[in-house]
Amino acid sequence: MTEILAKSGNAAQGDATAFAYRGGLLHAEGVPLDRIAEQAGTPCFVYAGGAMQATYRALEAALAGCGLPTSICYAVKANPHVAVIRGFAALGAGADVVSEGELRRALAAGVPPQRIVFAGVGKTAEEMAFALETGIRQFNAESLEELKLLDAVAARLGRVAPVALRVNPDVDARTHAKISTGLAGNKFGIDLEQVPEALALLRGLPNLRLDGLAVHIGSQLVHAEPYEAAFARLAELARSLIDQGWELRHLDLGGGMGIPYGPAGAEGAATLSLEAYVAAVRRTVGGLGLPLVFEPGRYLVGNAGLLLARVLYVKQGRAKRFVILDAAMNDLIRPALYDAWHEIVPVRQAAAGAPAEPADVVGPICESGDSFAQDRPLPPLAPGDLIAILSTGAYGATMSSTYNSRLPAPEVMVRGGDSALIRARPDHAALIAQDRVPAWLEG
Ligand code: LLP
Repeated sequence: MTEILAKSGNAAQGDATAFAYRGGLLHAEGVPLDRIAEQAGTPCFVYAGGAMQATYRALEAALAGCGLPTSICYAVKANPHVAVIRGFAALGAGADVVSEGELRRALAAGVPPQRIVFAGVGKTAEEMAFALETGIRQFNAESLEELKLLDAVAARLGRVAPVALRVNPDVDARTHAKISTGLAGNKFGIDLEQVPEALALLRGLPNLRLDGLAVHIGSQLVHAEPYEAAFARLAELARSLIDQGWELRHLDLGGGMGIPYGPAGAEGAATLSLEAYVAAVRRTVGGLGLPLVFEPGRYLVGNAGLLLARVLYVKQGRAKRFVILDAAMNDLIRPALYDAWHEIVPVRQAAAGAPAEPADVVGPICESGDSFAQDRPLPPLAPGDLIAILSTGAYGATMSSTYNSRLPAPEVMVRGGDSALIRARPDHAALIAQDRVPAWLEG
């Protein structure tokens, strides 16, 4: 019997199955996870590459409902592995990048430069120069200061930089405070009140060409209303620019589409309705007739990844049961950083009727914050058992560190019945070799 556990994208919207129990064993697409654990070791990230691509196609189809030409620029920050980007590039995706490193990854994955947008509040002159020489589609400029620097860099290189003004619409995205970006108090975007000043500045900067407007109000949005409010402000601004004679070529509506972080009924299960999202787009910017750019990250990869870990110990404390894993906050920081809720399941399905008892699921790092879940009802677990922390395809491996001098977790991608180790676990010697001891301490 097959019990579907996690679909990528939004399960309710019919995207591909990433993870499911088959014969009592959790599989990534067609590959049993115990086999992956044996081959790659644990902890390790597992990505359902086929499901990622299916989610891309489903999102593309849904966005076609906007009734305008659309392009998807995958937000590389969510999962910057070249194989992940390549999977989307093969389907025609562009990329949203925020650093030279991400830009180079997108290029390495085969994303054509003319499909790459460059966002971020702190682009350096060197990054601007590299992006200009590469010939990217657009810089999403976030301040007047950035416009001046970009103009100077473009002048030096004898180029014209295509620009979109990223505006801050002062809308509450109703998401976690640390990933909310569209309020006046956030560092992102140009305040709507400063846009006239930015336009006046642009008139005097001959090496910039204003192509569009951009907005991104936050990440993991599960309500369509904040989008609608932000897009309405963007539409109003776009109309006034067009009236003033600016020739806008497109609007960039950002990313942020939320995914369910748990099965139906669980705390994390709220999700964004793509239908409501598309309706909000149509009602606001729909009438302008401008092509639209979207920058989804999490939506495309989040539920198509899991963190595979092994139980080291089960410790019965006075007040609590602790399940101690070989994965830790250095592998997945989201619970510690955002109090994020991630579904945790055993790789070998619990027997029907097995008692679920609350446990704290923790890692070996020397901090009480090194915890994946508190008081989570879990079936009986024993040392050596494999468990999976779900919905970790986005902002998982990429936010990891080597804290406590732990080795980075390897990454595995599957597609159907195939699996490939797409990043190996480095050895300790390689990491230690990165440290240099100054001459005065040698000998
Ligand atoms: N575009 C811009 C300008 C962004 O700043 C972001 C995310 C995205 C697109 C993609 O957002 P997405 O579709 O993935 O929600 N580390 C946090 C998320 C940080 C998001 C930062 N910006 C987390 O683990 O929840």
